Order: sequence, then C-alpha cells, then structure tokens
Amino acid sequence: MSLFQGLSFPGFLLPLALFFSCVFLCHGGTTSIFVRNVQKGTTMSLDSDVFSVPSGYNAPQQVHITQGDLVGKAVIVSWITEDEPGSNAVRYWSENSKQKKKIAKGELVTYRFFNYSSGFIHHTTLNNLEYNTKYYYEVGLGNTTRQFWFITPPEIGLDVPYTFGLIGDLGQSYDSNKTLSHYEMNPKNGQTVLFVGDLSYAENFPYDVNLRRDTWGRFVERSVAYQPWIWTVGNHEIDFAPEIGETEPFKPYSNRYYTPYKASQSTSPFWYSIKRASAHIIVLASYSAYGKYTPQNQWFEQELPKVNRTETPWLIVVMHAPWYNSYNYHYMEGETMRVMYEPWFVEYKVDVVFAGHVHAYERTGRVSNIAYNVVNGICTPVKRSISSGIHNHRRWRESWGVSNQHDRTTAGILGIQRV
Ligand SMILES: [Fe+2]
Repeated sequence: MSLFQGLSFPGFLLPLALFFSCVFLCHGGTTSIFVRNVQKGTTMSLDSDVFSVPSGYNAPQQVHITQGDLVGKAVIVSWITEDEPGSNAVRYWSENSKQKKKIAKGELVTYRFFNYSSGFIHHTTLNNLEYNTKYYYEVGLGNTTRQFWFITPPEIGLDVPYTFGLIGDLGQSYDSNKTLSHYEMNPKNGQTVLFVGDLSYAENFPYDVNLRRDTWGRFVERSVAYQPWIWTVGNHEIDFAPEIGETEPFKPYSNRYYTPYKASQSTSPFWYSIKRASAHIIVLASYSAYGKYTPQNQWFEQELPKVNRTETPWLIVVMHAPWYNSYNYHYMEGETMRVMYEPWFVEYKVDVVFAGHVHAYERTGRVSNIAYNVVNGICTPVKRSISSGIHNHRRWRESWGVSNQHDRTTAGILGIQRV
C-alpha cells in the first residue's frame, strides 16, 4: 500500500512527483480540479508542422543544448545532419562582442539500431563562456546555416535567484505540444529545463521507431536550442531489445544526448551533477545499477559531501522513477532506490526531489519513511526538527507554478529566490 494512502491526492494530470527529504508530517490536498484522462494522448502525425525538416541540403536539425561543465560556463551544442557529415564547427559570439566569431569544433558520432543507420550526430562544447551573457551561435554551412542563441546563467552564489522549468514524459502527442507551448508561454520564464526522463517514446511506434526519435528532436528544438535542458534517463530511453539483437542499453539516447558527467567525476553520462545559480543539482539514474558497491552508489556517496551550502544553498535531486507515488500506476518502482538512498537524502538535507514516470501530478511535504511510526499500524510519519546547521529553508521562498493542464506529460516551474 502507498505510504500516502488515505491522504487526499487527486488524479492530477501532471506527472511531477516531488517530496522533501526531511521528516515532516505530510498534508495531502487538492490543488486542481483537473482529472487525468484515462486515454492516451493522440500522436501527432508525421507531417505535423512541428516535425518539419529545415529546408536546404543537409541543413542542421534537432539542435539542442545542455550545460557543458560543472559550473555553467560551458554549453554542449548538438545537432544532426542527415545527408552527409558536413561541418561539426559551431561559430559563436556574445551579444556585445566586437570580436570576430569564435569557432569551436566537436565530434561526430553515428549508431546503428537493428536495420537503421542514424544521421550524423554532432556534439560541440563551447567553453570559457562569460556568465549572464547572451550568446548567438551558428551551425551548418553556406545557405543552410542556422542561427540560435542562449543566455548563460549568473555566476554561482548564495543570493542568486533562478527559475527552472520541469518537464518529463513528454512524448509527441498533441498534449505534448500543448505542454511545451504552455511552458514557453509561462510568465515565470523558465531559464533552464530539468528534464525528468522519457523523451520521445519512439519504441511505441514499431513501424516508425527511428523516425520518431528524429521527429521528437525537431519538435523540441524550438525550446532546447535556446535554453539548456538537463537530461535524465527514463525507462523509454533503455531501448534494450535482444529479440532484434540490440543488447546495448541506452544506445540511441547515449549517442543523441550528451551530458557533462566527467566534470563531476562521474563515470557515466546517466548520473552526474551540475551547479547552476544557487542550486547544486544531482541527476540520478533509475535504470542503472545503484546498489552497494556499484559505480553510481560510490559516486553518489562521494558527491553529497561536496555540496557547499554556503555557495549553493539549494540541493536538488532529479530522477525518473519517483520514490513516493500514491497511484497504482508504476507503484513502488522506485522503492529499492529509496531504500538505498533515502537516509543520505535526510542526512544531507536534500531540499527537493523531482521525478516523472507516473504521468500524474502530486507533491508532498517533507517526508521520509525512515522515521515512520510503523508501530501504530497506520505508519504515521514522525515529526522532526528541520532547522539545523547552515541551511535554513525559511530564508528562501520557493515559487511553484504548474505550467500546463494537459494530459500524458509532466511539467511545472520552480523559482528559487532569497527573501
Ligand atoms: Fe517512465
């Protein structure tokens, strides 16, 4: 049974599962009249305008950016060319620069998946960027050059407000498009998206499986080419298909979406950390080994003491499978990771956890099962003081906004600001 059984968590559509790790009596409550549709969303057809291919021979497509280092002074620019490799150079310059464009060169990868050969996937890192600066960048050649821009984050520090968008389980239905539009139009202006896993759901399209990875890349370009999306792997990125000879998990995802994992001494692109503004963000992998002695476990144990709360007072953890979920859908799939890691979350005072997977919105107060009163038979959480040490939640205001009310996706907004 769910730990939250008996509390009032309605069937919201937004699949953001959130909880605080310090022990606190949890009060459920209705915050929306929305009731999730039972039916799946209708998939956008291949000729939908949001999937359109940029015009011109070998034009770069599926352009996306993510943070490229630990501290927010680098950006990884990725894109795909379909006809031939073309150039893997990125030309970039700051808005106020009078200098010539700088050029960064990257790498090119391809992969095969069953009978499919990918396009030419480019990944180029722009290093040594200035904080809080608008940069323009170009990819492609000649008359198929395409130009985009992004704004680097402010320098890391205690008093630095920032706004994160939260999206997961996005897919490519009409609801997915509404979700993304709603995020883009949100007046809180999310500056970076924490993507909590499950991108394209391509494997749900057995006849278009590879096409659907490309359509999704073109669909989200309108946002992710202009602001970083911080990637987390979900179950729809595993792509383990031994029946067709595909036994390397995460192969398409690994080739298409890079992360700056080496900057945080991780040995895998699926778990890593970044700092951004006043937040230290730890990305965990729900579908990579995390038990005792595994690389992820060792890395995570060594990462937590590195968090400097006088520099980054916010400690945010992102994963795909939630530890707490009152739905029967995907119920308890995050339980074994919770058993392994929840004591560390309490010890290190993780502020907030974001997860996706369930396709239904709920959030909790600070709760942790390790201090539940299991003797009373109803598993009442035990109250515990949360104010100790340097970190004091009351100095900060969290502003929460639900950015969409459309089914089958996850989305929201988190603003952090010192008050
Ligand atoms: Fe999922």
